[in-house]
Amino acid sequence: MRDGRLYIAGRDAESLAREHATPLYVYDLSRVGEQAVALRDAMVSTGLEPVVRLALKAQREPALLEFLRAEVPFVGMDVCSPGEVDWAIGHGWGAGEISYTGTNVSGRDLERITSAGVHLNVDLLTQLERVGQAAPGRTVGIRVNPGIGASRDGAGETLYTGERPTKFGISAEQLPDALEIARRWDLTIDTVHFHVGDGYLSDGLPVFEETVRRAAEMVRTLQGAGWPIREVNTGGGLGVPQQAGDRPLDLGAWAAILATHLGPLDVAVATEPGDFLVKECGVALAEVVTVEVRSGVRFVGLDIGWNVLGERFVYGSILDLVMCRGVEAAALDDVTISGNINEGDDLFARDYPFPEVREGDIVAAIGVGSYNASMTSVHCLREPAGVVAFKDRR
Ligand SMILES: Cc1ncc(COP(=O)(O)O)c(C=O)c1O
Repeated sequence: MRDGRLYIAGRDAESLAREHATPLYVYDLSRVGEQAVALRDAMVSTGLEPVVRLALKAQREPALLEFLRAEVPFVGMDVCSPGEVDWAIGHGWGAGEISYTGTNVSGRDLERITSAGVHLNVDLLTQLERVGQAAPGRTVGIRVNPGIGASRDGAGETLYTGERPTKFGISAEQLPDALEIARRWDLTIDTVHFHVGDGYLSDGLPVFEETVRRAAEMVRTLQGAGWPIREVNTGGGLGVPQQAGDRPLDLGAWAAILATHLGPLDVAVATEPGDFLVKECGVALAEVVTVEVRSGVRFVGLDIGWNVLGERFVYGSILDLVMCRGVEAAALDDVTISGNINEGDDLFARDYPFPEVREGDIVAAIGVGSYNASMTSVHCLREPAGVVAFKDRR
C-alpha cells in the first residue's frame, strides 16, 4: 500500500487494471520464491533432507511455473490427474521431479501415469489392488490416514480426516491388508504419504505433531517389515495469515516437529503445499459495474464472477476485498458484493463493511493466488480472467 492505494509488486493496482482490463489476476512471483526458500531452509536447518513440491492444482499459471523453473528450480511438482502430469512435463519438470497423489484412479488414468514414469501414491486398498493388477512389480507409495489433521480452526478434523470416514488414505488398521495386497502383486512400497492438514497456523502445531507422530509409527511398522521407505511425504495444509491477528506459521517449530519424528527414520521428508506457496502471491482485480441500494442494502456489483474466483464458493474460504484507491477508507455501511454470473448466489460477500464506492472503481480480492484461477469454469461462457505476472518488485 502507498498513499492509501493498493500496490502489487510495487505497481499501482488500479493502473494495472486500467491498462490490462478486468477481471485480472496480478501475480507477485517473488512471493512464491520467498515462501519456497523459507520452507526449504527451515527443513535444512533441522538436518532434514527436504523435498519441496508445489500442489499444481492450486496454481498452474504458465508464467508462474516458468518463474519457478528459472528462479527456484528445487521446487518439484505434486500432481493429481493425468492432465496435471502432462502440464507439469510440458512446463519443464522431469518425471523424477513429479509425485502423483490422486484418488479414484481409473484404468485409463493408470495407463497415462505409468507411461509418464512419475511416482504414484495410492490412497485406498482397492486402488492398490487395481495398481497391482495393472502394473505388477511396480514401485508405489501409500497414502495413509493418521486419523487426525490440523486445520485453521484447530479442531483436529479436516476434509481429509475426522470422526466420519473420508475419501482418503489407508488407516493404521488397514496397513496389514495393504501389505498383503502389495506382496501379492510384487509391489514395492517406497513412500508413505499423508495429507490431512488444512490451512493450519502455529496454534495447529500440537495437532500437527500428533499427526506426524502417528504417521512415523506407521513408517516404522513398514520399515520393520522390510519395506524400503525412502520418502515420507507430509502433504500440504500449511496456512498463511488471512485475518487481522493471524501470525505466520512458525516454520522453525514446524520443521522441528518433522525432524523429531521423521529424522530418525533416515528418509527424505517432502512437503507439497498449495496455499503456503502461492496463496499470497495473487490478487484479483475487478471493476465496479453496479452500485445500487435495494431494499436498504447497498449492492456493489463487479465484473468478475465465481467462475474465476471460486475458492470461497467451493471451500467457504475467507475473502478479503478492498477498494484499490482507498484501501483503508472508512466503511460507509455493510454491503453485498455480487458477481457477474447469472445466479443469485454469486455473492462474494454479505453484510461486508465497505467504503463509499463508485461505478468504475477497482476492487481487489487479496491473497487469491491459490484455488481460484486454477478452478476457472466456463459457467455462462464467461471468459477466464486476464493475467499479468511480475518477477521483480519496484
Ligand atoms: C495430496 C495433496 N497434497 C497437497 C495438497 C495441497 O494442499 P494445501 O493447498 O492446503 O497446501 C492437497 C490439497 O488438497 C492434496 O490433496
